[in-house]
Amino acid sequence: MLRLIQWLTRREGLFRVLNPLLAPFNPFLSEHRNNPELTWRRLRETDPVHRSKAFGSYIATRYDDVLFLLRDANFTTDRGENPVMKFILKLSRRDPVFSALLERNLLTIDGAEHKRLRGLVSKAFTPRRVEQMRPRLQTIVDDLLDSVSGASEIDLVEEFAHPVPVIAIAEMLGVPSSDRDRFKAWSSQLVQLLDPLQGRGGAKPMTQAAHEIFGYFEQLLDQRRTEPRDDLLTAMIQAEDGGQTLDSADLLALSSLLLVAGHETTSNLIGNAVVALLRYPDERKRLQDDPSLITSAIDEVLRFESPIQLTDRMAKSDCELGGKPIRRGQIVASVLAAANRDPARFPDPDRFDIGRTDNHHLAFGQGNHFCIGSQLARLEAEVAIGSLLKRFPDFTGHPNPPAWRRSMIIRGPETLPVRLS
Ligand code: HEM
Repeated sequence: MLRLIQWLTRREGLFRVLNPLLAPFNPFLSEHRNNPELTWRRLRETDPVHRSKAFGSYIATRYDDVLFLLRDANFTTDRGENPVMKFILKLSRRDPVFSALLERNLLTIDGAEHKRLRGLVSKAFTPRRVEQMRPRLQTIVDDLLDSVSGASEIDLVEEFAHPVPVIAIAEMLGVPSSDRDRFKAWSSQLVQLLDPLQGRGGAKPMTQAAHEIFGYFEQLLDQRRTEPRDDLLTAMIQAEDGGQTLDSADLLALSSLLLVAGHETTSNLIGNAVVALLRYPDERKRLQDDPSLITSAIDEVLRFESPIQLTDRMAKSDCELGGKPIRRGQIVASVLAAANRDPARFPDPDRFDIGRTDNHHLAFGQGNHFCIGSQLARLEAEVAIGSLLKRFPDFTGHPNPPAWRRSMIIRGPETLPVRLS
């Protein structure tokens, strides 16, 4: 079934014919992929809480509405009551690995259970542990840049943006470097959990990867229980909050989630940053002349070309948003990317300005589900982009990547040919 849906979403001609039913929100067209801001702007200006009949949900695009949705207790990430999600959860219960992934997933649970799991993960995934990664990250990035230094042209996504975050999280968790390649392969399949429409082979490759990674983590966790180390897996085993600890299913689901949530997102941030530097040579020069701007430059990329374009919430009871009646159980998509270009919040929002101050973008969400990995993602991107510019100051490439990812949720170049010298 999923395979068929994935196949259908690739038939652009079909979605062109169906456009009258889908417009103004038709994420399956290349126009949207190439420049989603055009869709978001039209919605923000003409129908900021838009009811998409085709998707059966609302789409919110104004900064204030998106912020409200992310913070308000009446809107939940737990979509258990939504008929589509009910069906998926019922199917997933046939498979213990899948059901652990869905039912212990911070992104899709809420309330007391979310608070318990998030509290325990936060005891292990601390700012200190992330900051300790800085020298290792520099080595990871330098090694990757060394490995491509002989080539005149590389695919920056495949050879740089993609490996940096997966190696980083693997090392943080405590995965031995000899297992990195297997780990990378699983991660590429599991990423479909963030957007099932993105893949090609239906649910099978994702399910298989989930089983393999659970089996792998099971062994590694057993090892860490008998031989603790200074790594994130050990820290999660030892995490304790008011007498509570993480059980085996929690640990398996959370380790996999950290990999899934941190991989594709951060690799797209790195890819988007390189595209922005190619498109805006004056801003690139500004950064090269003053590398201390790297922190605000990465935040500007997050605002300007948000790697996660939108996230859903479900209404717990009937309410109103932007004058539209929302019924209990209805889904509202909060378009982070649209909020981040809202002129009511950001002066001159379509200007890419690496020195922008007052840049309170929503690229990492807000409220109870605010991204746990934001500090790590920023650090990875800062080290990756800072080092790339230092090592290959004259790199060139086309300002328009050959293709953007086929996803309505994830934004980033599919490939990015770059000449290093
Ligand atoms: C540029 C990179 C990243 C972006 C744009 C990003 C974006 C987000 C967003 C928007 C949310 C909130 C979703 C919602 O409210 O529905 C989120 C949650 C989350 N992120 Fe990230 N993320 C990034 C990197 C990472 C990394 C590196 C990790 C970990 C290694 C991570 C782990 C998580 C987790 C576990 C959650 C769930 C938190 C919760 O629901 O309580 N993310 N992320």
